[in-house]
Amino acid sequence: QAANIGVVGLAVMGSNLARNLASREGNTVAVFNRTYAKTDELVTEHPEAGFVPTSSYEEFAAALQKPRTAIIMVKAGAGTDAVIDELLRVFEPGDIIVDGGNALFTDTIRREKAVRETGVNFVGMGVSGGEEGALLGPSLMPGGPDESWATLGPILKSIAAVAEGEPCVTHVGHDGAGHFVKMVHNGIEYADMQLIAEAYDLIRRGTGKSPAEIADVFAEWNRGELESYLIEITAEVLRQVDAATGEPLVDVIVDQAGAKGTGGWTVQTAIDLGVPVSGIAEAVFARSLSSHPEQREVSGELPGWHDADAVPPVRDADAFIENVRLALFASKIVAYSQGFDEIRAGAAHYGWDIDLGAVSKIWRGGCIIRAQFLNRIADAYDAEPGLPVLLTAPYFVEALGRAQAAWRRTVVYAATAGIPAPAFSSSLAYYDGLRAERLPAALIQGQRDFFGAHTYKRIDKPGTFHTLWSGDRTEVEAEDTH
Ligand code: 6PG
Repeated sequence: QAANIGVVGLAVMGSNLARNLASREGNTVAVFNRTYAKTDELVTEHPEAGFVPTSSYEEFAAALQKPRTAIIMVKAGAGTDAVIDELLRVFEPGDIIVDGGNALFTDTIRREKAVRETGVNFVGMGVSGGEEGALLGPSLMPGGPDESWATLGPILKSIAAVAEGEPCVTHVGHDGAGHFVKMVHNGIEYADMQLIAEAYDLIRRGTGKSPAEIADVFAEWNRGELESYLIEITAEVLRQVDAATGEPLVDVIVDQAGAKGTGGWTVQTAIDLGVPVSGIAEAVFARSLSSHPEQREVSGELPGWHDADAVPPVRDADAFIENVRLALFASKIVAYSQGFDEIRAGAAHYGWDIDLGAVSKIWRGGCIIRAQFLNRIADAYDAEPGLPVLLTAPYFVEALGRAQAAWRRTVVYAATAGIPAPAFSSSLAYYDGLRAERLPAALIQGQRDFFGAHTYKRIDKPGTFHTLWSGDRTEVEAEDTH
């Protein structure tokens, strides 16, 4: 029996996606893995899936009905190129290769271009939701050409998560658009996780509550406007007790956060595009700081403002926790706003027609940052598709206004107590930067003009100017050098 879709790479994400595909009416799934043992194991363990096992690329191609469609689920990087080369050897013009790994979008742009020359279609697709999402319904972010979407769309819709009756998949845009959006998703994921971690740290050190008690706080928050998968799992992690020591698990885990790179890419790309994603950057750097034990060790004796360990205790724990909740919500709005700003800038730069409202909708289910809150983002773009700053939409303006006093108090407390809250404080600084009528950037322009004749513009007339700093300090008209 010919398979209508194939999966290459049967590690946990690939296996689960293959099982998800096989469980949908009308699908027959061909599977291939570099080592056949993995293929054999999957097929034996899941006879119900009716997989078509294959042991070579030739067999894999022969098992697929034309035009062939294959989803690659291997670790992003050189391995992906190797698999693409093998598939191109056995595929024909009109066939479709989908890369479902966490590829860097510029690699996807390069691959799409190279593959297109052979007549085969290449689709870079972001897949979010981890192992469980892959099996039960991920959020899918395919890029690639329109023709492939016509074939792929119905299959992807059938396996994606469903949020409020809508499948969490849309054709994001051409070539690298899907992986670009997945990259920013991960950047936002980093920021959201860091913000939640800061909230936990502040509550723990500020009130002395135990992880289990803080788990109850998060569970409570999950019933309100912060409702999200990440808040939900935070409660579960905090509640977990280590079997070996009887201590809260969070206290026996080494406090050094890993990263596979996608958060860093989000920041690097934002720098190239000139987009201030300060919340995401703080989250990436907070992980870096945590992961330098040699630096932390020599810094352990640095003086704090108060005596050692003297974090000023909060007087009213409930009021404090409510302040932290509001600070978290406000900072989260900033992080998402910055992320969407990056997608908008990326779309403009790379010529993608990305519907930001549709992106927020496909993140409502299946993915790591899934949350009710994404509906508000969709509403904002529905009302004003060209919105230049997401957080200026009425719903967010109201929320930020409501949270503001608590947000400021929380940042003040963190600074006074010496508890690091980089994402909370940088989000607030970003907010105030946006609000400011005048920024000290004017002074920076003056400094740049002083030492490098970099010129400046005036508020009162058009043109570009330079002051003769080392001469008589009169002003002259100049060429615009930025
Ligand atoms: C997802 C996740 C997933 C992942 C990344 C980031 O959407 O399912 O974003 O892609 O967790 O691998 O992991 P790191 O934290 O290791 O960078």
